[in-house]
Amino acid sequence: MALSFLRWIFGLLMLLVVSHSVCVIFYYTADTHSSREAMPDTLQQLRCAKLRRKFSVITSVKRLNMESFTEELDDFLKCPQKPNTTEQELNRMKLQLCCNATGSIFLTKRNTAVNQTIPYETSTKSTYTMNAAIHNMLPEDFPWSGRRLGRCAVVGSGGILKNSSCGREIDSADFVIRFNLASINDSDVGLKTDLVTINPSQIQREYKNMVQDPDPLVERVSVYGNASLAMAAFAYTFCTGKSMTTLKALHPVRPQQPVVFFSPLYLRTLDRFWKGRGLKSIRLSSGFMLINTALELCEHVHVYGFWPFGTDLKDNPVPYHYYDALSPHRYMHKMPEEFVRLLQLHSQGALTLHLRPCVDL
Ligand SMILES: *[C@@H]1O[C@H](CO)[C@@H](O)[C@H](O)[C@H]1NC(C)=O
Ligand SMILES: *[C@@H]1O[C@H](CO)[C@@H](O)[C@H](O)[C@H]1NC(C)=O
Ligand SMILES: *[C@@H]1O[C@H](CO)[C@@H](O)[C@H](O)[C@H]1NC(C)=O
Ligand SMILES: *[C@@H]1O[C@H](CO)[C@@H](O)[C@H](O)[C@H]1NC(C)=O
Ligand SMILES: *[C@@H]1O[C@H](CO)[C@@H](O)[C@H](O)[C@H]1NC(C)=O
Ligand SMILES: *[C@@H]1O[C@H](CO)[C@@H](O)[C@H](O)[C@H]1NC(C)=O
Repeated sequence: MALSFLRWIFGLLMLLVVSHSVCVIFYYTADTHSSREAMPDTLQQLRCAKLRRKFSVITSVKRLNMESFTEELDDFLKCPQKPNTTEQELNRMKLQLCCNATGSIFLTKRNTAVNQTIPYETSTKSTYTMNAAIHNMLPEDFPWSGRRLGRCAVVGSGGILKNSSCGREIDSADFVIRFNLASINDSDVGLKTDLVTINPSQIQREYKNMVQDPDPLVERVSVYGNASLAMAAFAYTFCTGKSMTTLKALHPVRPQQPVVFFSPLYLRTLDRFWKGRGLKSIRLSSGFMLINTALELCEHVHVYGFWPFGTDLKDNPVPYHYYDALSPHRYMHKMPEEFVRLLQLHSQGALTLHLRPCVDL
């Protein structure tokens, strides 16, 4: 008994000193019956701590060996996730200072005047002048001021959600954000929706006839109940017309479901914030943007459906989206680079990433 305890301590010390897989093997060979129960636990904790340290400083996928990356990530995601409130408050403060979602994520009557010049997010040449008719349809103020949003679920469209059984878990969140009018159902992705984005290019593609016949779009958005419909109306000049048409079509028939426009200044400051941290893409994905919004507004952020690779943690192929067969626009966003930042935030306890199937509540 005493001997085995000494061996156990010795094994542990070796592990702490060198912290290398070779020692793990040594440790197992030194194992004897009496302490077999306690050891895997300690080992597991050390492995988790090691992976947490490793992933908390990861900033790029460039030199990543995908095979060992997914293997280690699979292990790491089995570790208990520890939210770090200090880290959460730190991120909240940084994002409030740079970007202030509460004051400026959407154009509102409060923060925008008639005849005000609205800049474009990606262009310094073009501007838009706010007219009285559109201004009249803007929300009075930020829709959720005066309260923390509690536990938020940000639901990306990644094929990793297929067969995930995450629907109930997502629906149990206080606030649910979705993208591009993605389909919903109770099994894998949930039904609850508080904010869903509409991509102006999807309006251009799928609702060419909206002015004459708004019904198909009305039907599509009504699936989300009273959720706000957010559009990046001032990302590119082509977005503006599509967004205005959407607002004009939906405002009279679905007043309980506001169409809101992202402020180009908010998205631009967010972009600068991340460029300053080495994330260099043409434009941040709307998913990544709204995760940042959630980090500022929510108590705790749970992230689903963000997985930018073609195979899952078990090396099975995953579709790009859970709801269609499209492939990614590789030139536009740097999804893998965004993903490692999310992984970093997860490791630091600032948010919780979900990549494995959900267990029943
Ligand atoms: C939580 O985050 C803070 C700030 O980064 C850090 O100093 C602290 O060590 C973290 N706490 C734990 C338990 O990891
Ligand atoms: C953010 O905007 C709100 C509303 O305009 C304002 O009350 C608040 O002081 C701003 N916060 C920061 C940190 O600038
Ligand atoms: C906006 O501009 C138009 C045209 O210049 C002018 O007639 C109108 O009074 C202005 N409205 C406000 C609220 O400034
Ligand atoms: C999901 O489950 C169905 C039925 O079990 C199976 O046919 C399909 O391949 C699975 N899809 C993925 C992406 O795992
Ligand atoms: C949606 O809004 C309408 C009108 O304001 C309200 O009567 C209804 O209860 C709301 N539904 C939900 C699910 O909040
Ligand atoms: C839920 O949606 C996913 C993705 O679109 C689909 O694979 C699955 O079959 C759907 N399940 C039900 C019960 O509709």
